[in-house]
Amino acid sequence: MTQQITAVSALASFLHKAKSRGQTVGFVPTMGALHEGHLAIVRKARQENNLTVVSIYVNERQFNNSEDFLKYPRHEESDLSLLQGEGVDIVYFPQTAELFTQENLPINFSLNGLDVLLEGASRPGHFKGVVEVVHALFMHVQPTKAYFGLKDFQQVAVLRKMVKELQLPVELVAVPTVRAENGLALSSRNQRLSEEQRQEALILFKTLCFLKEHYQKTPHNELLAQAKANIHSSSLKLDYLEIVDPETLISLNEHHPQALACVAAFCGEVRLIDNMLLIAQ
Ligand code: PAF
Repeated sequence: MTQQITAVSALASFLHKAKSRGQTVGFVPTMGALHEGHLAIVRKARQENNLTVVSIYVNERQFNNSEDFLKYPRHEESDLSLLQGEGVDIVYFPQTAELFTQENLPINFSLNGLDVLLEGASRPGHFKGVVEVVHALFMHVQPTKAYFGLKDFQQVAVLRKMVKELQLPVELVAVPTVRAENGLALSSRNQRLSEEQRQEALILFKTLCFLKEHYQKTPHNELLAQAKANIHSSSLKLDYLEIVDPETLISLNEHHPQALACVAAFCGEVRLIDNMLLIAQ
């Protein structure tokens, strides 16, 4: 049966008992408004652990735009029933007052520039907010493994860096992006799109496929320019489209054996992101 927990003391005592029986804990942090992408992550966590904890917390610290925070979809009831349907053991609703305390101050360390590229450049402070909340949640849950979706590729890179730098005893597991049948990457933000906008937003997936298809055969800069022109000719407002090294996330200016295309664009008021590896690994 799924337990709903809001107090960190209740969470700690439940998990302490489980861990002392040798049980492993898989943790899936979320901001709610769950979709199939989240559920794929939850299923993986369930397969690999004795217990699964999912947290739901819309983290104001990672929004650089207060309107975006206010408009972020919130569906606690339906989220809960989806998680019950998946057989999740604990749904944790952290309380802001318990996340950051005198004993557990927001973590502060250098991400060596990983946080100022791509999303970090467009959303100053975003990754600081992500790292602060995920670190606080890790302190509460102390999971064996924690699961994140690759749609937020840079988030995974930033969190891997955090785990390594702070030598946290948790294994991060990255789960592939889940797409709608037409290719649109699933995102909680899609709930704010009209039917027409969902069709228009497909230009992002199509452009990533175009880059992947032509990457080997077309000169780098020419290809990138064509891809950008594709998006500019749509109704979306391009924020960035870059081909980067998937390890460092630094922009590439020429062909590279490992390359990742990352895109962000506004569809109406809604900011969407997506990415695709250009060379099969
Ligand atoms: O990916 C998300 O939903 C959020 O960034 C996360 C990891 C739950 C932190 O608030």
